[in-house]
Amino acid sequence: MSSLPCPSTADLLRLGAEYLTPNYRQQPVVLVRGLGCEVWDTEGRRYLDLTGGIAACPLGHSHPRLVRTLADQAARLIHVSNLFFNEPQLLLARRLCESLQQALGPCQAFFCNSGAEANEAAIKLARRYHQTLRADARRIEVLSFEGSFHGRTVATVALTGQEKYRAGFGPLVGWARHLPWPEREGDLRPLEHITDQTCAVLIEPIQAEGGIRVPPPGFLRALRRRCDETGALLIFDEVQTGIGRTGTLWGHQSDPQPAAPDILTVAKGLGGGVPVGAMLARQEVARALTPGSHASTFGGNPLATAAALTVLDTLEDEGLLENTRQRGEELTAGLRQLCQRHAPLAIEPRGRGLLQGLLLAGDAMPAVHACRERGVLLSVAGGTVVRFAPPLVVSAAQIAEGLQVLDEVLASLQANGAKA
Ligand SMILES: Cc1ncc(COP(=O)(O)O)c(C=O)c1O
Repeated sequence: MSSLPCPSTADLLRLGAEYLTPNYRQQPVVLVRGLGCEVWDTEGRRYLDLTGGIAACPLGHSHPRLVRTLADQAARLIHVSNLFFNEPQLLLARRLCESLQQALGPCQAFFCNSGAEANEAAIKLARRYHQTLRADARRIEVLSFEGSFHGRTVATVALTGQEKYRAGFGPLVGWARHLPWPEREGDLRPLEHITDQTCAVLIEPIQAEGGIRVPPPGFLRALRRRCDETGALLIFDEVQTGIGRTGTLWGHQSDPQPAAPDILTVAKGLGGGVPVGAMLARQEVARALTPGSHASTFGGNPLATAAALTVLDTLEDEGLLENTRQRGEELTAGLRQLCQRHAPLAIEPRGRGLLQGLLLAGDAMPAVHACRERGVLLSVAGGTVVRFAPPLVVSAAQIAEGLQVLDEVLASLQANGAKA
């Protein structure tokens, strides 16, 4: 690489083909810098980024406060491991736990580096809680939902309720089972599978990767009740819905009938693009993690936790939850109009706040590629949904720009007679 003083985009793409494992389907763009909701590629071309690093950049790109925090913290202390305490980690733990205290009571935090790891920690904690604190070794099974996405480690991919992610990796674990996703309001049949043998139930407050699927009203609350009846622990996977994405700090808080979990996992937006994840648990459950029972070398390191504190401060200081709600309403209204203008190709808008999607009558990838060619970056969720997960700093004009480009793309796809 160093022998190429100024590699062309084609050279860089060739490096990808040669040296990266071929597990991603990257678009043929090499991004070099970003500011707010805009990014630029090696050719100097500007894009409006409505993917937000897959919901991981709530402050957008190169937010000056986050840049300053990272520079200051890097100059002071980057990493020490959990052999010692560090200041930002402790302040972040308090901040996150306090945000849940009203609904969950006293909480404690375990830090890691990604969503999958946060879910792994939650599964291990649930097991250990039953086995050590409740002396109940029967509770082995962990339940999740069809259409869910919980990560790519062996345990979290087993819990992911989509066959395409599990294919070719078997045999996976025998204790993961997927419940049917409730079809409509009042459909509580999935809950019948939760019994006094259930260790925990894992659910996303809105299924994100599965196609931006919002549970019917009252479902989370009924799930909470069923877990209470059976003694199963309830885990909310807020890896994608957390940190303001749906217009409240936590995704479950924006549900019209909110319910509280025993354990909550978060990653993505928490570090504003810096890898950091957390598992937050009611203290009574968390105390099962005795010294030595679980760990992560980088978990909670000062660089990542300082970044997360700045993300939380900036959400508050810049009114980003309010911005998320307002821009979210504009997005919903715009997506509704697209459904009217482009039926039967465009079927329905889905989601809440700045985690929304447009369900199409076929593969959403051609629409996403065509938007990119017109300078707007979007992603696909669940195969047939065009997903919007922009930075929470997105402006009304930028939402309008994204909708207009998608409008043009859908019109041209319809004109060409494609299903999508
Ligand atoms: C709900 C949910 N859980 C877990 C994960 C896995 O997170 P990570 O890729 O950081 O391991 C994701 C990633 O998309 C997610 O959306």
